[in-house]
Amino acid sequence: MQIAIDGPASAGKSTIAKLVAKKLGYVYCDTGAMYRTVTLMALRSNVAPDDAVKVTALLPQLELKFVPTADGQLVYMNGEDVSLAIRQEDVTNNVSAVSAIPAVRTDLTQRQRDIAAEGNIVMDGRDIGTTVLPHAELKVFMVASVAERARRRFLDNKEKGIDVSIATLEEEIAARDHKDSTRATSPLRQADDAILLDTTSMTIDEVVAKIMALHAERER
Ligand code: DC
Repeated sequence: MQIAIDGPASAGKSTIAKLVAKKLGYVYCDTGAMYRTVTLMALRSNVAPDDAVKVTALLPQLELKFVPTADGQLVYMNGEDVSLAIRQEDVTNNVSAVSAIPAVRTDLTQRQRDIAAEGNIVMDGRDIGTTVLPHAELKVFMVASVAERARRRFLDNKEKGIDVSIATLEEEIAARDHKDSTRATSPLRQADDAILLDTTSMTIDEVVAKIMALHAERER
């Protein structure tokens, strides 16, 4: 079965998707990590994140690999573990520009479909239910208020030793929502057949339980 989890930044998609995949024994694919890796590659190559021609030229040299671990996965860019580097603020604040480039989306969409073709999968992102896996049996569109998402990101950052105020995070999240929803190619949008899940006042366990129940319904 294919499970597509889409939604805006910091709505809890990857935390939930990881846990659901673990419970079901499915492969987990974090497509945001793929856009982040291309962004890191551009920054390291001194290519402006909105330079479509130069960013696109980097793609054939990119070998992207996910390696599963006990509590998630590591991301490798041409053999280097970039799992932490792709979560830094410079990548976060430039990834919307890179992900708006149509050729980047075409390339990564194909890589995502290749991963999904290998079997049961939980994939999270922005356009999984609408574009990457339009036939996914279960589609969830996960949302939460900007204030709650900033609060969650703040706690996450604290654990990673990243120091950014909640007010700044709120601004960054709102800006990224806007860019992700208004880009021309494959914008963030709820698929017609996706189930809307507002996690603002739900615990992680509650959200996981809800998705497990939806999955069980579809297996019947
Ligand atoms: O989920 P995330 O914050 O790690 O995603 C990083 C960025 O990548 C996000 O701002 C939008 C983009 N993205 C996308 O355009 N399409 C996807 N399927 C996943 C992420």
